Amino acid sequence: PALPALQGKTLLITAGPTREAIDPVRFLSNHSSGKMGFALAEAAAKAGAKVQLVTGPVNLLTPAGVERIDVQSAQQMHTAVMQRASTADIFIGCAAVADYRVAEVAGQKMKKTSSNDELTLTLVKNPDIIADVAALTYQRPFTVGFAAETENLASYAKDKLQRKKLDLICANDVSSKEQGFHSEHNAITAYWQGGELALERQAKTALAAAILQLIAQRIQQQQPL
Ligand code: C5P
Repeated sequence: PALPALQGKTLLITAGPTREAIDPVRFLSNHSSGKMGFALAEAAAKAGAKVQLVTGPVNLLTPAGVERIDVQSAQQMHTAVMQRASTADIFIGCAAVADYRVAEVAGQKMKKTSSNDELTLTLVKNPDIIADVAALTYQRPFTVGFAAETENLASYAKDKLQRKKLDLICANDVSSKEQGFHSEHNAITAYWQGGELALERQAKTALAAAILQLIAQRIQQQQPL
């Protein structure tokens, strides 16, 4: 295989958006397509890794050899990830997890009334999945995050690297239509403690292989033979 370092390793990957219910027929979500996470899962499986892919709702086929766990909400994704995180060698948080959910989900479809010209939804913070994985003190996987930003890419990404205690973060400029959300292409700059690497715009499948190669290199640097 192209990536011998990943052979036999267990990778846990999140992908796609989450859906936060408002009522039985409505939800809050975002534009994540899941393509980057699925491309990483496919490339890792091809490299001989055991891959578990926890995904929000997306329109993508499960890559060959990948175990797929479908979830809807951030809370469900959190539960699915925490059940598996300590048996993974590598965790990659590629999902665009909703930062907030609706505080009280209505049991029935909310109705428009003539007196309701304004409606207020109260939101509460969701758990930070990747921060909880990175905070594991026992059997903590090598933890890789993504940062999709529309401005201040480098500084926001480096801040997330520190704050969430990640081993590596892939910063992704989503302000351009030429890459990022829904696109087949992406460009990222990866940051770690004391280093960075720009990976130029390319197909998400090729970029996935390059990211996995960097992860394998970083793991070897952290734990020299
Ligand atoms: O949303 P944010 O830009 O902070 O996301 C950065 C990283 O954190 C991503 O890897 C994302 O998957 C992860 N994340 C998470 N749980 C959240 C929010 C973000 O795992 N609630």
